[in-house]
Amino acid sequence: MSIQANPLIKTLALSPRRRMAPPAPATARRPMAAVRCSAAKRSYNVTLLPGDGIGPEVVAVAKDVLSLAGALEGVEFRFQEKLMGGAAVDAYGVPLPEETLAAAQASDAVLLGAIGGYKWDNNEKHLKPETGLLQIRAGLGVFANLRPAAVLPQLVDASTLKKEVAEGVDIMVVRELTGGIYFGQPRGFGKNDKGEDTGFNTEVYSASEIDRITRVAFEVARKRRGKLCSVDKANVLEASMLWRKRVTSLASEFPDIELSHMYVDNAAMQLIRNPKQFDTIVTNNIFGDILSDEASMLTGSIGMLPSASVGESGPGLFEPIHGSAPDIAGQDKANPLATILSAAMLLRYGLGEENAAKRVEAAVTETLNNGFRTGDIYSPGTTLVGCKRMGEEVLKTVESQSAVALNS
Ligand SMILES: NC(=O)c1ccc[n+]([C@@H]2O[C@H](COP(=O)([O-])OP(=O)(O)OC[C@H]3O[C@@H](n4cnc5c(N)ncnc54)[C@H](O)[C@@H]3O)[C@@H](O)[C@H]2O)c1
Repeated sequence: MSIQANPLIKTLALSPRRRMAPPAPATARRPMAAVRCSAAKRSYNVTLLPGDGIGPEVVAVAKDVLSLAGALEGVEFRFQEKLMGGAAVDAYGVPLPEETLAAAQASDAVLLGAIGGYKWDNNEKHLKPETGLLQIRAGLGVFANLRPAAVLPQLVDASTLKKEVAEGVDIMVVRELTGGIYFGQPRGFGKNDKGEDTGFNTEVYSASEIDRITRVAFEVARKRRGKLCSVDKANVLEASMLWRKRVTSLASEFPDIELSHMYVDNAAMQLIRNPKQFDTIVTNNIFGDILSDEASMLTGSIGMLPSASVGESGPGLFEPIHGSAPDIAGQDKANPLATILSAAMLLRYGLGEENAAKRVEAAVTETLNNGFRTGDIYSPGTTLVGCKRMGEEVLKTVESQSAVALNS
């Protein structure tokens, strides 16, 4: 498949999901802001899956931010909300009802809060909220998981690393999401020659699975600082040997990107020792699972980190990396910034609405600059706020940005 023919690359770069709405009626003598907000030129269907625990709290806030930033860029959203996770188990007896999957598949992008909670912890596997998560990823065909981990200057003290190590860290982990040992066959339980119980799984990748995630990663690196590090265990595992061979062979398609390779054990060490050496990392499902969690902890707060999962066509899935935080659910204590930043990824990687994405990211930065903090990122001298208030402060900032833009 050529680079140009890869629809995902188009998703990342050209926004094929952009939909044109009929032109708005002409408006005369109305204030500029009102004209800009009402003259929506592009329109998208977004499925919201609030989920469980703090999910509904953070998704409600992110929805408002998405609407406002979109309106200011001539973008209109039609939202529909569906049940998933534990809430769906309670209402429908399954963690991902057909109706929810169908709505998600028919939309332009999906924004998910979080799923899970104590109530469903002991359910059988097919009735666990987490099963719904695997099902929706499979149902949307999203094979590339993008997880940024950036240490914001305002929160550098939240990192457990020394300031000089953490400062300026800005990493994107591109994880293969639908292959490898989590899905490989055969898998199961058996007995060995001695009659002992065994458990086994299979790490398997085809060349095409490696190629498609590698192309996404090269493309992501191109939008960042042009450096890609492929992480594998090619000194031991055959699946990794093929991985390295394929990644190396694709490098000629991206001569502007600096490619390096690293064994996963070394990468785990280097992420702690000198994380600034990394720009974009591409790796398989299991290594990506572990390394993206490790990278996220460099930033010190789980409540700040967004993610995107995209496929070759169809809507992407955008969600914060944190869980449903049952310990603080319903108390207005959740940090909504990870979900707001996931909405920014939805705008950039899902819809190609770069300007609206930048508005959202700039508003988050400014809100932090203004000193507002939820409990998880609070430090003395800053203003402690709850989930709703944090959302209101971000909205105010989005609005004031627009005033600046309109006056300039
Ligand atoms: N993608 C998902 O929906 C997802 C991911 C991870 C865990 N889970 C599920 O979430 C449930 C709880 O899991 P967990 O406790 O291991 O992880 P968690 O991420 O929910 O919580 C870990 C800790 O971080 C805090 N925290 C998380 N998000 C926060 C936020 N936005 N603001 C402030 N504090 C925040 C929590 O209060 C808790 O102390 C489990 O049922 C688990 O299966 C879901």
